[in-house]
Amino acid sequence: MLTIPPAVANTGTWETDGMTSSTAASTADAAATGADTGDPRIAQVVRRHGARADALIEVLHQVQELHGYLPPDSLRLVAVAMRLPLSRVHGVASFYHLFRLEPPTAHRCAICLGTACYVKGGGQVAARIEQRLGVRLDDPVGDGVWALQHVSCLGACGQAPVLVVDGELVTRLPVDQPEELEARLEAAGLPQRTTT
Ligand code: FES
Repeated sequence: MLTIPPAVANTGTWETDGMTSSTAASTADAAATGADTGDPRIAQVVRRHGARADALIEVLHQVQELHGYLPPDSLRLVAVAMRLPLSRVHGVASFYHLFRLEPPTAHRCAICLGTACYVKGGGQVAARIEQRLGVRLDDPVGDGVWALQHVSCLGACGQAPVLVVDGELVTRLPVDQPEELEARLEAAGLPQRTTT
């Protein structure tokens, strides 16, 4: 079950981060009427949900589908159109792993560090991949080409440790067999990009 961060529960005040309240109000009215708010698709998404604060997660999800991530301007437009504090919108977007605040890299690897995978050596696999790719775990921009993130469970606990490379699930990684592990990582499409 998703945990709602304090920022979501707190209704707060209408912060506009430098925007005057009259500008924000007119932009919100524009969203309500379908007028241009900078990106009419965002106004459409918000209008579809009736600008309801409890639909914020779904709104952000659909806005993210427009760009592949949530650029700062999109968060600002969502905040204005939904009459919510920008800090609250940003707080939700940054709390959940499913939201991206940076442009996606061309290639992505997700290593599972949930309990089942962790006790089977998921942490060691993560360290090995960091070394192979030359990126740090959970750095959202990676090296601009590859990014490595951790996830809490991929629903394949019985095949731990597991990871996903560009959408492909890789299971039963042989942590105790270094050469075999390297071969499996290579076969999964994770290149050796460093010399160490
Ligand atoms: S803990 Fe890794 S798949 Fe469930």
